[in-house]
Amino acid sequence: MESKAQTLYPSKSSGRPSKIAIIGAGAVGTAVAYACAMRGDARSIVLQDINKPKVEAEALDIAHGIQFTPCGSVEGSDDVEIVRGADLIIVTAGAKQQPGQSRLELAGSTVNLMKKIVPNLVGVAPDARFMFITNPVDVVTYVALKLTGLPRNQVFGSGTVLDTSRLRYLVSRETGVATQNIHAYVAGEHGDSEVALWSSAEIGNVPLSQWGPTLSGRVFDAELRKSIATDVVQSAYKIIEGKGATNYAIGLSASNIAGAVLRDEQRVLTVSTLLEDWEGISDVCMAAPTLVGRDGAGRVLNPPLTLNERDGLTASAERLRKVARDLGF
Ligand code: 2OP
Repeated sequence: MESKAQTLYPSKSSGRPSKIAIIGAGAVGTAVAYACAMRGDARSIVLQDINKPKVEAEALDIAHGIQFTPCGSVEGSDDVEIVRGADLIIVTAGAKQQPGQSRLELAGSTVNLMKKIVPNLVGVAPDARFMFITNPVDVVTYVALKLTGLPRNQVFGSGTVLDTSRLRYLVSRETGVATQNIHAYVAGEHGDSEVALWSSAEIGNVPLSQWGPTLSGRVFDAELRKSIATDVVQSAYKIIEGKGATNYAIGLSASNIAGAVLRDEQRVLTVSTLLEDWEGISDVCMAAPTLVGRDGAGRVLNPPLTLNERDGLTASAERLRKVARDLGF
């Protein structure tokens, strides 16, 4: 456990222990903090929220368990100063998605909140990497880039890392193969217009189209692919209907991205970044398979795409761009 934490990439300037700051101590922020502590993504984890009693209590509750984790300390405060020196800032603060409400419907209120909090965060930690989770994550990431003027690599969103994990989970259930051996990605908006990149999907090193009968006796034809992709899109709606929010799997997804940054792993993750002439798409933030390491979001990969997939991604980009434009960005 201890040695894992010591492989973390130390802070560039001082060599001091690595630090993650999480903004927002709601269902998502606390799940991210818990996952990062459990997995030892940084030696120090801090939570910041305007609700002082809540953020202090949430941090203390996790801190009481650090004996059993590779993490060194967990602290909470309502003061943004606690973020100073963070290597990675994870923003989860924002309005709660109500049952039946789409992520894009949150855009107006969320963008106003970002205008207030993002400049303060850059003020205390200008060299940090910024990961946005707050929905609509692609629009929020784009707005944050514009508000901060920071370079593209430094500001990215959790994108469709969770949707990709949901897709792999469903394909794993259909085939009985471990999720880790399902190589399939969801790209585009983290939301209703996202696109499952079926044509490049593989199980082990077998193309999905050649897999043959699944456990339920079906093959990965258009019907099964559509049913799985729809299930992925509907996942959050179903969970929000049942428990009011999604938090555990996004907590683990964020921890996975945080580990890639803090350990300089160069993982291929479908984070949301500013796309510049990617498959003909520019000037919008949305998810695509991207290398993630200590500098944040790096090269965006160009998987083979069918015409349908390309059209779907173009439509997703247009939809996101329109929401940003309507908000004045
Ligand atoms: C999710 O997909 C609501 O964006 C959140 O779980």
